[in-house]
Amino acid sequence: MNIRMLCLTGVLSLAGLSTFPAYADDATTRSARVYDTYCAQCHGANRDGNGINSTAMAVKPRDHTDTKGMGDTPDEELRKAIKSGGGAVNKSVLMPRWDGVLSDAEIDGLVSYLRVVSKSGSK
Ligand code: HEC
Repeated sequence: MNIRMLCLTGVLSLAGLSTFPAYADDATTRSARVYDTYCAQCHGANRDGNGINSTAMAVKPRDHTDTKGMGDTPDEELRKAIKSGGGAVNKSVLMPRWDGVLSDAEIDGLVSYLRVVSKSGSK
């Protein structure tokens, strides 16, 4: 095995270590990074609501892998919750607002990304 092959093998095995699957689609990958940065501490590296902060929280962060529950939530509500916080959709204010931190395009990207994560269609 030459050095180039060794490097390639290293990169591939590193990619394999990621806890959440990487997607080929660029927009999805970008949103996954935004999620890892701003959302995973509550919603979890596995997107299931078990982030590192969640044990101390009175209201559990939403499980974004819940196909049924997420499928029942319209895009507009997801967008509003992310943009203006849980309080804006009559949910817990423990869900922070992200306008001013994330652009509208990033928030739209997250809404689409949540459909991928939850395997639910947009409504
Ligand atoms: C400080 C912890 C925290 C962070 C950080 C956080 N959330 Fe949440 N989130 C919550 C909690 C708690 C809830 C559950 C609110 C409830 O059920 O009353 C929630 C709920 C939600 C919901 C469901 C809203 C609904 O109407 O059902 C969405 C969507 C969501 N979060 C997306 C995100 C996204 C995207 C990010 C990152 C940009 C994020 N959250 C970051 C705590 C957090």
